[in-house]
Amino acid sequence: MTISPFSDDSVPLRLLRERAFNLRWAQLPKGVIPLTAADPDFPACPAVREQLARYAGEGVFSYGPPEGLPRFREAVSDWMCATRHMECTPGMVFATDSAASAMAVVARASLKPGDEALIPTPVDFLLHHTITRAGATAVRVPVTREMTAEEFIAGLEAARTPRTRMLWLCSPHNPLGVVYSREWLRAVAEWTVEHDLRILSDEIWSDIVYFPHHHTALASLSRKVAERTVTVYGFSKNFALAGLRIGCVICTDPQWRETIVAAADAESTVFGTSVLSQVAVIAALRDGAAWLADFVAHLTTQRDYAVERLSRWPGVTVPPPQGTYVLFPCISSLDEDAERFCRRLRDQARVALVPGLPRWFGEGAGGHVRLCFATSRGILQEAFDRMEPVVMGMMADQPAKPTSLGKTDLA
Ligand SMILES: Cc1ncc(COP(=O)(O)O)c(C=O)c1O
Repeated sequence: MTISPFSDDSVPLRLLRERAFNLRWAQLPKGVIPLTAADPDFPACPAVREQLARYAGEGVFSYGPPEGLPRFREAVSDWMCATRHMECTPGMVFATDSAASAMAVVARASLKPGDEALIPTPVDFLLHHTITRAGATAVRVPVTREMTAEEFIAGLEAARTPRTRMLWLCSPHNPLGVVYSREWLRAVAEWTVEHDLRILSDEIWSDIVYFPHHHTALASLSRKVAERTVTVYGFSKNFALAGLRIGCVICTDPQWRETIVAAADAESTVFGTSVLSQVAVIAALRDGAAWLADFVAHLTTQRDYAVERLSRWPGVTVPPPQGTYVLFPCISSLDEDAERFCRRLRDQARVALVPGLPRWFGEGAGGHVRLCFATSRGILQEAFDRMEPVVMGMMADQPAKPTSLGKTDLA
């Protein structure tokens, strides 16, 4: 009998407690369930594990080429052409040591102190972080789940100044879970063409999209849009490779790409991407598509389960995300202070969530919490079984009864 790679038994709790950092199992007190950083609780697909073992077993670890192994660049470009109808050649792909570092290098190559880049808010903190680290200014433009392109463009127009150089987008959007439609993206892209702005399109979540929604790669809209766009892509979310720190930049414009490669300082070998991490990605893209489809099928049922459980919390509703594996409900009916709410859940229910603080998501996230559901059904159910009495106790303004420890291996 084969065990599903996404069952309770497939979650390697002992190893996660040793290895899963970034607000997760290895960093929190034993017994706390982390629904925090968006990093799956499952091991990587068999193809990745086999190829890493084979390559490591051969024992040759020479320097790789600065822009990435030819087979890595080919695997990414084939994947982009096949799954996104994006015109992408290996020469456009530049390997980086994570999507975060791809964003940082694009910021360093494309912005200088005094320049401004428009970003949606709320959004993952990395957009703001990497722009400001490059010495430029990130200007926040409000976005909501329901916002039309016209409304968003009105916000962009109000925020645009003579110093505006770029627009940074994130689709599927973390934490709102929106997958922007082709029409929405086209309208926004046309606005950037009109104002001669460049675009960074963070598409790290683009493989985690739920039926009937469909990811549109910004660079697939037209040649004109592709020329002013860099796509940031990664392998932490889709293939569970966060610790291998591997991602890439896809850039059509050869001159811009040269600037990005120079800013990365990979030619000098001061920086560069581990060949082992690239080998893992080649295996994932060549032989991991079926595993990824099963993962998304598992996530679909997890998403629906989590949305249903959340709807039992008084005054809390959240639409099912169209993409990503995070939920971002407004919990202000329970507590105006999301940080206090999360502290209470961590202490009383022993479940950790991410509070909607400006530090994580910018303005517009107040009163919200983010919950990651990329775990097994048993763990997610245990987390909700623990949180529910605490939340109900809050409504009754009573201290919650001590939570049951539930499954012994989670205690
Ligand atoms: C929207 C977004 N961009 C970029 C990243 C960074 O990914 P990586 O692990 O490849 O640095 C994340 C990870 O949470 C993310 O959610």
